[in-house]
Amino acid sequence: MKTLNPSPPSITLSAPNWSALREDFPILDQKVHGHPLIYFDNAATSQKPRAVIDALVHYYERDNANVHRGLHELSNRATDAFEAARVRAAKFLNARSADEIIFTRGTTESINLVAATWGTKFIKRGNKILLTEMEHHSNIVPWQLLAERTGAQLVFLPINGDAGLLDPGQLDEYVTSDVKLLAMTHISNSLGTINPIAEYCERARRHGIVTLIDAAQSAGHCPIDVQQIGCDFLALSAHKMCGPTGFGVLYGRGERLEETPPYQGGGEMILSVDYHKSTWKQAPHKFEAGTPDISGAIALHAAMDYLDRIGRDRIAQHDQDLGAYAFEKLAALKGIRLFGPTIGGRAGLVSFLLDGVHAHDVVTVADQRGVALRGGHHCNQPLMKKLGVDSTARASFYFYNTTEEIDHFVELVREIQKFFGN
Ligand code: ALA
Repeated sequence: MKTLNPSPPSITLSAPNWSALREDFPILDQKVHGHPLIYFDNAATSQKPRAVIDALVHYYERDNANVHRGLHELSNRATDAFEAARVRAAKFLNARSADEIIFTRGTTESINLVAATWGTKFIKRGNKILLTEMEHHSNIVPWQLLAERTGAQLVFLPINGDAGLLDPGQLDEYVTSDVKLLAMTHISNSLGTINPIAEYCERARRHGIVTLIDAAQSAGHCPIDVQQIGCDFLALSAHKMCGPTGFGVLYGRGERLEETPPYQGGGEMILSVDYHKSTWKQAPHKFEAGTPDISGAIALHAAMDYLDRIGRDRIAQHDQDLGAYAFEKLAALKGIRLFGPTIGGRAGLVSFLLDGVHAHDVVTVADQRGVALRGGHHCNQPLMKKLGVDSTARASFYFYNTTEEIDHFVELVREIQKFFGN
C-alpha cells in the first residue's frame, strides 16, 4: 500500500469574511418569486462555488478523455487529474493511502457497495447489524437487503425522543458477540445531532465489530480524520460539500478492502479476462468497474481545495453558530415543536413543526417568499414514526448563510403562524 505524507491541518490564515464568500456562489445572487433567494436546503445539496464550476468547464474544454487506457496526451492528463483527486481525497480524510479511496456515485452507493461485497462475504445467518434509530434510508435499506439475503438481523440503538440523542452508556448492552457491524451516521440530516463517532468506533472495535460511518452531512461541514475516528469504512457525497451531484467517496481501511471481493464486474477493474475466468486488480481499482465519473473526481478535488482554503474547523464553528442561533430564535416562539438537541452538539440545521400547519405548507409559503426549505420525511421514515410525525420542515445552513437570513426566516415563520391562525 502506498502511504501518504501526514495530512496538513486545514489551513486558515485569517478569519473568513463569510458574507464576502457568498460572491463565490453565482447561484445565490438571484431573486425567486420576486424575493432575494435565501437558500436553506443545504442538507439536501449545497451550492457550488465558481472554483468548482470552473474546474468542470476547464476539464471538458481542455482535457476530456478516458482514463487509464490511452497513451495519448489528453488521456494522460485526464488520468493524472483523476488520480490526483484520489490523493486529495485521501489527504482530506487523513487516510493512510490513496488506495483506501474508492470513487462511487455518492454515499448511497458507497454503503450499498459495502453491503454487497464485504457484507455478503462476512455477514452470516444469526449475525446482527447494529444501526441507530436516526439513520437515513441509505443506511437502513442496504442492510435490510443484506439481512434478507443472509438471515442476519438489524438492531437499532435508541434515541431519547425529540432531543434526538444517543446514550453512549447504552452501547454495552447492544454490543453482543453476534454483532458484526456498526453502521451509523455522523450528523443526523433530520435532527442535527452530532454523534460521538470516534467513541462508538473505539468501543465497537474492542469487540471486534467492523464500523461504517455515514458522513454525508458532515464531510463538508467539519474536519474528518478517519484515523482519529478509527472507522473501517466511511461514506460521503460530493454534492453536499460544494462538489457535483452523482459523485462520492467510500473510504475503506486497507486491510478491510483487501479481504473484500469486487463490487461490479467489467472493464478497468480486471487484470486479465478469459472466457470462463478473470482476475482483478487490487483496491481501489477492483471496486471501480467501467469508465468512472472523471469530471466528478476533478470537481470534488476543487471543492476540497475550496473548503480547506476557508478552513473546515472554521466552517464547523460557523455552521454550528448558525444552527444554535436559529434554534434559539425559533424556540422563543409559541406553537412550535423543535427536533434535535437543544444547544451544544447540534449541527447547522433546524427541524420543526408549527401547530396546525403541515410541513409542506410551511415550505410552500416560504418558497413564495424566496426561502428554500425542505419539508417531508427527509428519507427518515422510521425516525419520523418514532417521533410520532409524518414530516418536519427543515432549514439547513452552510457557511454562506447569514444571521440576517435567519432573522428574515424567523419573521416569515411568525407570519406563517399568523396566516394559519396561530
Ligand atoms: N438526504 C438528503 C436530505 O436530507 C437528501 O435532504
